[in-house]
Amino acid sequence: LIPMSEIASNADQLFPFPIFNSLRQNTPVRYDEARSCWDVFRYEDVHYILKNPKLFSSERGSGTLQGSILTMDPPRHTKMRNLVNKAFTPKAVKDLKNKIEEVTLYLLDQVKEKGTMDLVHSLAGPLPVIIIAELLGVPAKDRDLFKTYSDVLVAGAKDNSNEAFQRMAQKRKEGSEFLKEYFKKIILERKVNPEEDLISLLLAAKIDGEKLTEEEVLSFCVLLLVAGNETTTNLITNAVRYMTEDKNIQEQARTNLPLIPKLVEEALRFYPPIQAIGRVTKEQVKVGGKTIQKGEQVICWVASANRDEQKFTEPNRFTLERKLNPHLSFGFGIHFCLGAPLARLEAEVALLTLLSTFAKLEGVKGTELEAIPSPFVFGVKRLPLKFTRQ
Ligand code: HEM
Repeated sequence: LIPMSEIASNADQLFPFPIFNSLRQNTPVRYDEARSCWDVFRYEDVHYILKNPKLFSSERGSGTLQGSILTMDPPRHTKMRNLVNKAFTPKAVKDLKNKIEEVTLYLLDQVKEKGTMDLVHSLAGPLPVIIIAELLGVPAKDRDLFKTYSDVLVAGAKDNSNEAFQRMAQKRKEGSEFLKEYFKKIILERKVNPEEDLISLLLAAKIDGEKLTEEEVLSFCVLLLVAGNETTTNLITNAVRYMTEDKNIQEQARTNLPLIPKLVEEALRFYPPIQAIGRVTKEQVKVGGKTIQKGEQVICWVASANRDEQKFTEPNRFTLERKLNPHLSFGFGIHFCLGAPLARLEAEVALLTLLSTFAKLEGVKGTELEAIPSPFVFGVKRLPLKFTRQ
């Protein structure tokens, strides 16, 4: 899918919210000829779509993720999801806390005397990859290789040309082939010698008395990489970006560290790592008074829904005082993000460690941020920071 014409410049991609606000007011549900899809901007409508998988299917032609739970409908989705859920229970995730703290401290140790760093390169990028590799059981020696190829899977096109999109598609195909071959080897090893990791758990699991096929275990491994890495990188980066833009919020969090979970939730709402979620209509439906035929693509704009004044008071204000924060940044309903507890914990640990290691975090004057040019992902390629030690 190509980006929408309204949000084309880097400045707009860095801050598309006024455009979303005006689209939500003027054309809350609209068909875009150029992209051959429907766009939905209001909270109520996005919520309705995500809540109704019978009308709005997740089975869509996304190459890398075909055959994964993300692109599956019930009943198969329900069974697969129950199975993999075990690895992501709050308890299972809490057990990873020490590891997350250890890796965060290690990564920050490498840069803390320097006074500057690119947050993406030094912390927000590597942390989720190392943790997911740990969860899956990837040996430490393969981590760099693993990161190189998982990055390829989520890299966007360099520009809007057809050639750039084709190049991106080709690179993604190669990246996913490489990782599949890599995981196949690990799967074979774990079949013979099971360990305490997720791949061994998936290999032992049964649905209706049947084991998962090797292909299904593979798809799930690739899904975790694609769904979990860049998103968490962007959550951490977006939250820190916001703290450099609003010194007040940074100070509030620094002087009251228990507010960090609220900061993470508000960052999710305000700068959502996934700004849009796609579905395909299974029959003729009505959304916000518009009739949509069967088989149409519908794009739910989470970044717009999260700032809908019908749902949130003062939606364009970032505040740590919201009692309820029902943002849709992890989706809603049966596909609600499986990795949400893990992403939240990683972000909390990262922000806590940053705020307690450094007295002041600032952007670097004169560097314009560069948005990730993707219609679905909201984030920046690099976040150069200046800091002083506590
Ligand atoms: C699903 C966002 C981190 C694994 C989703 C969905 C969203 C989302 C919006 C729903 C997609 C849909 O309805 O079509 C995010 C964000 C993250 C994040 C914003 C970080 C801040 C993670 C992590 C993992 C993960 C760390 C795993 C390690 C998954 C999986 C699904 C999913 C497996 C599919 C669930 C299903 O289809 O039932 N995520 N995610 N995510 N996410 Fe995340």
